[in-house]
Amino acid sequence: MDVTVKGWVRTFRNNQFIALNDGSTNNNLQIVVDFENTDPALLKRITTGAALSVSGRLVASLGKGQSVDVKATHIEILGDSDPEKYPLQPKKHSLEFLREIAHLRFRTNTFGAIFRVRNTLSFAIHTFFQERGFVYLHTPIITASDAEGAGETFHVTNFDLANPPKTETGEIDFKQDFFGRATNLTVSGQLEGELGAMALSDIYTFGPTFRAENSNTTRHLAEFWMIEPEMAFYDLKDNADLAEELLKYVIRYALDKNKDDIEFLSQRLLDEEKQKPQQDRSELNLLEKLQFCLENDFERLTYTEAIEILKESTPNKKKKFQYLIEGWGTDLQSEHERYLVEKHFKKPVILTDYPKEIKSFYMRQNDDGKTVAAMDILFPGIGEIVGGSQREERLDKLEQRMDEIGIPKDELWWYLDTRRYGGCPHAGFGLGFERLVLFVTGMGNIRDVIPFPRFPKNAEF
Ligand code: 4AD
Ligand code: MG
Repeated sequence: MDVTVKGWVRTFRNNQFIALNDGSTNNNLQIVVDFENTDPALLKRITTGAALSVSGRLVASLGKGQSVDVKATHIEILGDSDPEKYPLQPKKHSLEFLREIAHLRFRTNTFGAIFRVRNTLSFAIHTFFQERGFVYLHTPIITASDAEGAGETFHVTNFDLANPPKTETGEIDFKQDFFGRATNLTVSGQLEGELGAMALSDIYTFGPTFRAENSNTTRHLAEFWMIEPEMAFYDLKDNADLAEELLKYVIRYALDKNKDDIEFLSQRLLDEEKQKPQQDRSELNLLEKLQFCLENDFERLTYTEAIEILKESTPNKKKKFQYLIEGWGTDLQSEHERYLVEKHFKKPVILTDYPKEIKSFYMRQNDDGKTVAAMDILFPGIGEIVGGSQREERLDKLEQRMDEIGIPKDELWWYLDTRRYGGCPHAGFGLGFERLVLFVTGMGNIRDVIPFPRFPKNAEF
């Protein structure tokens, strides 16, 4: 069979064998060049990184490692790549270095695999919800609210920053700004999502989310993607069931669709872990870890029960935690979440019913007067992957909580209206998409699972 193939040169050996890759898989296509009958000037231009179009005959391969070769009859250089200057040499580069050349890192096996898996996961998410009749709702990116109330928003303005208009009392006069008020990039589409759910019943959002939290960690980005389903007539248990089902569905989907890539990433992780001391290595390899997650029910317990476990835990007693668990009421740090998941239960955990003081205003208040119907899902190696709750549908309780925390009710009049007109029990959650991709790819840093990461002091590309 005669074929024409196009792609980029990974390597060119002995003036004879081109490993060509077009990004559809990590398996390169071997091109066999009849170098004795090829112009030496052309041969010289077949360099790592160059883009080629090759016509030739598809034949059974004589070599090991591939089943077919293309015997080239015609080679066209579509784009040269200077081998002296090309930053991506055919050798092992560190992930840190590759982050600096993120415009080229797609061309490595590791990042090819990661971004194919990322693509599959996002398709799987839509498939999951579409199969269940959820409506994909596009919530605004520019908003005037701070849904989580954490004050981590990025301002949106078109003022001349050197000279913004001022009020008589000397404050910046946002009335004169583009939207006639102070606005910011959204930290969550939830509040608008709830409005949709109060008519469409089941909705989900899947969009970019922005947080100006100055956390330079391996699990935080300033721009990340979040999936936020919101369901009318769901309580906390329904919510947890849906989240567990979703996570298992998309992991299974990726395992089916991207087996080769996940196997490759699993091997990558094994190689990386060989550098670590034995006790720091994972007990399960990536494939086993994903499989394990599919085959076991997530452990469900309350915050109060978790605090008891943590208080009695060895790292707490031996003061090994950076933040010691003193008693009920403190927020859990990632080290505590990971202890519960990785050491104590050794499986994903759904923690519910947190103290109201450490959770957002919209969560439904429990009868004990102390806790709210919150739910966080904790994953091995990640910590929190999902955060959600049943929502406070009772107008009086919601208003009272907003007053206590100091959230202006007049600004959220539209949110409160849904409690005035046919409000009903409802619930939802947010799944951090990059944290999901981290888990499924076994990567260690969230900056490596989004094409162009945004984090403090970095917005290159
Ligand atoms: O727990 P969070 O803050 O919850 C919400 O925003 C709710 N409005 C969700 C809802 O109920 N509809 O964020 C949800 C998830 C976290 O569990 C985490 O996976 C991810 O979003 N996340 C981040 N991912 C990357 N970088 C960050 N800075 C993140 N902050 C949260
Ligand atoms: Mg959270």
